[in-house]
Amino acid sequence: MQQWWRDAVLYQVYPRSFADSDGDGVGDLPGITARMDHIRDLGADGIWLTPFHPSPWADGGYDVADFRDVDPLLGNLDDFDALVGSAHERGLRVVIDIVPNHTSEAHPWFRAALAAGPGSPERDRYVFRDGRGTNGDLPPSNWRSTFGGPAWTRVPDGQWYLHFFAPEQPDLNWNDPGVRDEFRDILRFWSRRGVDGFRIDVAYGLVKDLDDPLRDLVLVDGGRNEDIAANPDHPLMDRPGVHEVYRDWRRVLAEFDPPPTTVGEVWLPAERRIRYTRPDELDQTFNFDFLLTPWDADAYRRVIDASIADAAAVGTVPTWVTNNHDLVRRVSLLGLPPGTDLRAWLLADGRDPLPDLDLGARRARALALLALALPGSAYLYQGEELGLPEVADLPPDALEDPRWRRSGHTDKGRDGARVPLPWTPDGPSYGFGEGGSWLPQPEGWGRWSVEAQQGDPDSTLSLYRRALARRGDFAAEPALAWDPDLNRGAVLAFWRGPEALVLVNTGPDPVDLPRGEVMVASTGLDRALPGDGAVWLRRPRA
Ligand code: GLC
Repeated sequence: MQQWWRDAVLYQVYPRSFADSDGDGVGDLPGITARMDHIRDLGADGIWLTPFHPSPWADGGYDVADFRDVDPLLGNLDDFDALVGSAHERGLRVVIDIVPNHTSEAHPWFRAALAAGPGSPERDRYVFRDGRGTNGDLPPSNWRSTFGGPAWTRVPDGQWYLHFFAPEQPDLNWNDPGVRDEFRDILRFWSRRGVDGFRIDVAYGLVKDLDDPLRDLVLVDGGRNEDIAANPDHPLMDRPGVHEVYRDWRRVLAEFDPPPTTVGEVWLPAERRIRYTRPDELDQTFNFDFLLTPWDADAYRRVIDASIADAAAVGTVPTWVTNNHDLVRRVSLLGLPPGTDLRAWLLADGRDPLPDLDLGARRARALALLALALPGSAYLYQGEELGLPEVADLPPDALEDPRWRRSGHTDKGRDGARVPLPWTPDGPSYGFGEGGSWLPQPEGWGRWSVEAQQGDPDSTLSLYRRALARRGDFAAEPALAWDPDLNRGAVLAFWRGPEALVLVNTGPDPVDLPRGEVMVASTGLDRALPGDGAVWLRRPRA
């Protein structure tokens, strides 16, 4: 039987921002269960839930204090079982996040490590070192945290611990056999509870070169680690030994029938990324090359061909991603003038230049029809089906992303893509819940609500529903064939199977539209395909 994930569309749910069942301003698992029909009606094949485990929420729940439970703010294990049951009744799969690179500082292991002192087995589950300098008061290496500042924090007895992310997220030591056992057991725990897959956070981390002396990194831009892509022998990332972890996990997951699937977050150039999906490792990785491609037909042609070939070389399928909880929402990105510095755009005093949201929305709709037409599987992020823009002007005191704090308040971080969803045109928190919302929703947020869009055939929600309904016509076709005549200049044109022709016009000017039944279009058509528009046509292939 064909593995279900090979042509699936997974809908990413950010639980704190999806739906709030108890009016405390924080989305929760019962809220997701209550809104499961939205995901079914959209036509997705399943959901990917970002972390919902007990957590101090120092990094949106990616700081896990207990890998086998649910944070009380979000519900309990019974609520989780009910969520899985309700998804499965509707034919939806459930993929959950697993965060193996680090724990929360509130995890009992880290507390025990602090209490047990230097040289203890408890400390050896993490990465503790003495400092440099005469009194050991300099960090053990110059490594920087991804969120800004040093990657080391000193504890009262004088040792330092490593945290590639926030200080509240101490890195685990994957040379410790107990750490490996623990994660095997966590995989089994959730697989027994019926999950259909795991998304592996920072899958290219975990194993590190920690031999003394620790190797300093080249620092760039006045204090960031050099780009991993530039260093094939990076001490912290993409170490050869990490692959053995995934071979081991594959054996663990093979204890279940069918084995839960795996998708890794691997921010590496494709030639290094695809090694994570060799046949005895993970099933998929997110295709960040596609995600980073600018709105340009030639660039898309290159990345599509390369992604398909790369995946085929290791026997997997490509994935197509355009949004997630770590990125500026695509509608805003595509509405910025070319060449805008995105980092600068998100700075505290940013919003300059303001995106052209109409242009961004048109392009985002066309991009959705591109991503959903490509062979392989696609990942959607909650709210993209509503065409939500980035909320770039959140008040500074509302920001929770550690990037804001750790950058000395220069980088607003990722909260603008995490604002709770609008379900109704007005009312308390636009239908998100009966109370407020943990991140403030902007004035007028209800114009993008599900209720405002569902009766409107031209809405973005209706477009996604139509596209997902029609995708089934060709999704099982493994190949894509570029059209020899139509595929040129600003127009991407390819066939999916014998009858479906996909056209995407990345240029500003309209182009002639071939005859055929319009399966779905991102824009109005008048015998022409307007600029920044896309269409799926049904017509016999010559
Ligand atoms: C991943 C997550 C991100 C998180 C980081 C640390 O990149 O997607 O949200 O901050 O890992 O766990």
